[in-house]
Amino acid sequence: MSSEGQPFVRLADPVKDAAPLFDVCKKTVGPATRAGTPNLIAPYIWNVPYLRLCPEYCFSLDDGSGNAVGYVICAPNTPEFVKKWREEYLPILESLDPLLKKPEMDPPAGWGKDLTLGMLQLLYRPEDMLHDACPKLVEEYPAHLHIDILPDYQRKGFGKKLMEALWEKLRETGVSGVHLVMEGRNVDAEKFYMAVGYSRFDEVVDEGKSGERGKDANGNLWIVKRL
Ligand SMILES: CC(C)(COP(=O)(O)OP(=O)(O)OC[C@H]1O[C@@H](n2cnc3c(N)ncnc32)[C@H](O)[C@@H]1OP(=O)(O)O)[C@@H](O)C(=O)NCCC(=O)NCCS
Repeated sequence: MSSEGQPFVRLADPVKDAAPLFDVCKKTVGPATRAGTPNLIAPYIWNVPYLRLCPEYCFSLDDGSGNAVGYVICAPNTPEFVKKWREEYLPILESLDPLLKKPEMDPPAGWGKDLTLGMLQLLYRPEDMLHDACPKLVEEYPAHLHIDILPDYQRKGFGKKLMEALWEKLRETGVSGVHLVMEGRNVDAEKFYMAVGYSRFDEVVDEGKSGERGKDANGNLWIVKRL
């Protein structure tokens, strides 16, 4: 940790923090996307568009000397974000990295078979964020977020501080609720969300297969909070 000062939460700087937060995303994604080409694509799905499209809802954890070592990034209105993603983000993707060329969209690759193709298809299909099969999620909790912190800074209370900064901003804006979708096997993250005031979405959303509230057909958990 930095000896220059204590870590603290601040608004993200979409220019200066872009590279370090890209790196935080690469280092903290789930095991399936932690290596190879999926790891190179991951930040373009779960990090870059937020800093580019709605930086005023992105907060960095500063190590005390100006370096960003964690983030919470948020789209305050998911339908508007999807529209911006399609209209403003997709057209520039290839210029950010030639790897991000639009793939064949049919048939859908799914998550298991060809992960690289599945991720590229997801990148070009932002409408998945609307969860059309269960519109209540976005209607009741219109904002959505991602949070990640480098290992050296985890379990020190900074995740909670990042959340508090975001909730304050969302409340100021009059946003009624926030959701996130997380990998079901990330047990530690679920404990964190429950500890800081989130809960599972209160419906069975996988057509009864799991029988669990807020668990979708891919085994992902839908986590929500009213503001
Ligand atoms: C999940 C994450 C954002 C949490 O942030 P954090 O700074 O580590 O969490 P905090 O220190 O603010 O924890 C607040 C409370 O949450 C609970 N909590 C956090 N991590 C926990 C864990 N691993 N196990 C059990 N409880 C946990 C505790 O009650 C904790 O309070 P306490 O430390 O006083 O007991 C962070 O650990 C992280 O980035 N992990 C790796 C990436 C990741 O999984 N991101 C989420 C993807 S969905």
